[in-house]
Amino acid sequence: MKKVEVSPSILSANFLNLEKDIKDVYFGGAKYLHFDVMDGHFVPNISFGSIILKQISKEHLLINDVHLMISDPNKYLDDFIKSGADIITFHYEAFNNDEEIFALIRRIKENNVKAGLSIKPATPIENIAKFLKELDLVLVMSVEPGFGGQKFMFNSVEKIKKLDTIKKEGNYHYLIEVDGGINNETSKLCIEAGVDILVAGSYIYNKENKKEAIESLIR
Ligand code: DX5
Ligand code: ZN
Repeated sequence: MKKVEVSPSILSANFLNLEKDIKDVYFGGAKYLHFDVMDGHFVPNISFGSIILKQISKEHLLINDVHLMISDPNKYLDDFIKSGADIITFHYEAFNNDEEIFALIRRIKENNVKAGLSIKPATPIENIAKFLKELDLVLVMSVEPGFGGQKFMFNSVEKIKKLDTIKKEGNYHYLIEVDGGINNETSKLCIEAGVDILVAGSYIYNKENKKEAIESLIR
């Protein structure tokens, strides 16, 4: 049975008590920490930049899982690499030619950072098939990116299943991550479909007991 991991999104954390909110999810069993970076252009919301990652990336033992919901990932890549990103995931929809996507994946990996590619709900798996052999992670958005606390979009389950089948048939190594509207019910659908990492923001951070919240996603 595959071990499914949890990546709490700090988008929903209490920034007045970020240190405690990170410690609580670490001791609650999370393996990753998800940084939802938004530029107010690629998505209609602004969250935070690499300065937050820089301050905390070395202060905890979680894997720094950076999700760039920005229009120009190339421009800010060095900042996030220098600030301690372990995984950098950018959006397929931020580009309009394949070569630029291949180049950015290479650039991330050349800096010894894991490369992830994310697709919005309306983007079919077929659009990213050519990149899969190069990727360390594929992030399936199960909400329209931009805000935490939205409702899970059930067509994401089929995408996870497809990615899992392609991965097995092609003997690829990418991890499958899902992000948006993940709770103790939707998480089970994604686990059955073959997901490796569950991103959850509001479901975890709206709960007093983070350990129970994290365990309820997997159990
Ligand atoms: C959307 C963000 C959210 C966040 C998780 O752009 O990426 O999906 O990570 O939010 P919740 O878990 O609250 O839906
Ligand atoms: Zn995210």
